[in-house]
Order: sequence, then C-alpha cells, then structure tokens
Amino acid sequence: MTIRHFLNLSDVGGEGIAHILNEAMERKERRAGWPKGKPDADRPLDGAVLAMIFEKSSTRTRVSFDLAMRQLGGSAIVLEGSSSQLGRGETIADTARVLSRFADAIMIRTDHHQKAEELAEYATVPVINGLTDLSHPCQLLADMQTVIETRARLAGTRWAWLGDGNNVCNSLIEAAALMHFQLAVATPNRFEPDVGMCAMASTRDDIFFTEDPVEAIDGAEVVVTDTWVSMGQDDEDYRREAFARFRVDEAMLARAAPGATLLHCLPAHRGEEVTDAVIDGPQSAVWDEAENRLHAQKALLMWCLGRI
Ligand code: CP
Ligand code: NVA
Repeated sequence: MTIRHFLNLSDVGGEGIAHILNEAMERKERRAGWPKGKPDADRPLDGAVLAMIFEKSSTRTRVSFDLAMRQLGGSAIVLEGSSSQLGRGETIADTARVLSRFADAIMIRTDHHQKAEELAEYATVPVINGLTDLSHPCQLLADMQTVIETRARLAGTRWAWLGDGNNVCNSLIEAAALMHFQLAVATPNRFEPDVGMCAMASTRDDIFFTEDPVEAIDGAEVVVTDTWVSMGQDDEDYRREAFARFRVDEAMLARAAPGATLLHCLPAHRGEEVTDAVIDGPQSAVWDEAENRLHAQKALLMWCLGRI
C-alpha cells in the first residue's frame, strides 16, 4: 500500500477529508464526558508510536497529538530540534530512516516545507505536516470540523480570511478548493498567499482575492484571522503597520453575516489581529476550534495508518 503522508490537504482529497471529519465527530461524541486520558473503547491504534519533531514552538499541536495517540491506545515521543541530533546537522534523510524503525508515524513542525517533503521521501512510515512556512493542514481539519458543528454544513458556506497570506491562509485556500466552500481572502499588498496554493483556486469563481478587508468580510458566515507575525518573522516589525486595517474588531465583525462564526488558530495577539471583545465574545468558536485539533488529528492518524 502507498504510504499515506499528510503534507497538505490535497494528499487526502475532498472525499478523504469528509471521511476524516466524520470519524472525528463520531469519536468526539462517543467519548463525551470521559476522563481526558482514558483511551477510546476500541483503542484503534493500540501500541502504535508517533514520533514528533518540533523545530518551532507549539502548545496545541504538541498536546493534541500526544493526547490523540493516548486516546487511540498508542503513545507519542517528542524530539526538540535543538536537543536532537538534527540540531547538530544530522540529515533529514538519516533521521527519517532511523525514526521509521522506531515509530509508526512521524509528525514534523519546521520552517521550510521542503524539509517535510524530504522527510516523507526517506521515511517508510507516514509523515504528517504539523506546520511549515507553507501550510498548516492539521489546523484546517479542526477548523472545518468546528464549522460543521457550529453551522451544520460546510459546502456552500461563505468564509473570509483577513490578514497575512501565511501558512494557515494557504491551507484555507486549499480547503475551500477541495471542500467547495466560498472564500474571500483579504491580504495587504506584498503579503499575498502562496502562488501555488492560489492556483488551486483559479478555476473557482467563488474563491477570490482582494486587498480590501471590508469587501472580503461583507456577508461572511465564517471569519478567520491569524497573527500578523508568524514564527520566524519576529524581527519584521513593519508588518504591524501594513496590517492595521485588517484587525477584526467589533465594527469589522459587524460587517459579516449576523451570527457569523469567528475562528483563529491561536495563539492570538490580542489587540493586534483580533480584539478581546471579539475573541471573548459570543461569536468566537476559538476554544472549540482548539479542542477539535485533538479530535480531527485522531481521525487523521487513523487515516494515515490505514484504519479508516
Ligand atoms: N494552532 C497551533 O498550531 O497552535 P500551536 O502553535 O500552539 O501548536
Ligand atoms: N501563522 C502562525 C500559525 C501558528 C499556529 C505561525 O506560523 O506562527
């Protein structure tokens, strides 16, 4: 069987994503009220091991993948880039070969997307992208699950992205193209999303790109934003000025459809891309969205290991 890597959403395709989301929601419902550390009754990944490589910081991705493996009956091992031999120059290829002997799947969070691709090329087990500079497909699985739960449907829903054309934005464009929802992407000039990801949307007239946040958010049912300064860009202070008119505050959110859902992958930079009143307000689904990282990734792990 071909190894089921998950470097981008298109590795799974629309039908596969729908299958993963259904599994995620069913599994979530079945264990409602259970102790968080108790495995699912069927322990579908009993004894399986996930190796996680972190070359960038993480709270949600690290905890949700670890807990996902425990709930599926397996376990996870964390390697920090700096304290593993990767940090001293061992190649990605050799790391892939070695980890494939110890683990049933490998997750990597890193900077250059090519590193995740190289890991997948040399690994003999599935490789999962836990965020690269190009994309963050795990986040979009959780986001789509959250929208189905809060709005009862995904296809045909109208989404707006306000902010940087970053990794999360790129995966959102891919998600819209694969899952047939409408998307307006508003980014400032020079901060547009990846050209390759945008190409996926080129045949769709309900995915469009603008520099005007007001045009994008008008009538949107789902509003998504993220930091203006992603990991690795901390010295790019000029960004804050370029993005000031893309802030999602109460006045901006009022332009969306009544009762629109706010998503943010977190961590939030309160007062920058989103205000306290919005992220703590009744339209915010960000805490469900964060929790759904766990449920969506459980189903993803099952897909990667051929159990669904
Ligand atoms: N949203 C997300 O990936 O969060 P972490 O950086 O905390 O993993
Ligand atoms: N765009 C952000 C996402 C963090 C989860 C970053 O790359 O830092």
